[in-house]
Amino acid sequence: MIIAIDGPAASGKGTLGRRIAAHYGLRHLDTGLLYRAVALKLIHRDMLDDADAGAEEARTLDPAFLADPMLRSEAAGAGASIVSVYPQVRQALLEFQRRFASEAPGAVLDGRDIGTVICPDADAKLFVIASAEERARRRALELRGRGEDVDEEAILADIRARDHRDMSRANAPLKAADDAVTLDTTALDADAAFAAAVAIVDRLVARA
Ligand code: DC
Repeated sequence: MIIAIDGPAASGKGTLGRRIAAHYGLRHLDTGLLYRAVALKLIHRDMLDDADAGAEEARTLDPAFLADPMLRSEAAGAGASIVSVYPQVRQALLEFQRRFASEAPGAVLDGRDIGTVICPDADAKLFVIASAEERARRRALELRGRGEDVDEEAILADIRARDHRDMSRANAPLKAADDAVTLDTTALDADAAFAAAVAIVDRLVARA
């Protein structure tokens, strides 16, 4: 079984993906981490503008590196949004993601283009959304929880800018697959979002 979860930045798809994978006994890949990992490697080499070096890093990516806490940093996220535009990097990471998805017993992948490009034949596709204001509120709460100083207005502006970049990219932009079910989590807490997602997946898998 393959479950595709796509959605904009800070929509909660990563947490949902992890919980759904545990629920169905599947492996989980947060694909944003792949772009973050390539970006961080390039930043360390001072080569963030080199698409071919990025593709080489993507081809030789060590999966163990995906657990590095530095991938969660703002610098890695900003770098990821730059390298995710390079077609060579997307192509190399496409192969990594398809290999991951094809291994038993199946997997949950979350990202921006899983249902449209990476796993178009997924058994269930979810498109997770929430208002930009609600996503900014959640991100601010998370950062405050880590003891960071936050400016919620700046976070909201950053989320809007990221939405625009992710949706207007020529190559594999963020959009719902035709056969995806949209789940709006604006008014749902994490448990309610999880219950709604499981109900959708159960329905889609029963129908397949
Ligand atoms: O989900 P995230 O914030 O970790 O993603 C970081 C960047 O990577 C984001 O700007 C878009 C890009 N990305 C992508 O282009 N395709 C994916 N499947 C996942 C992430």
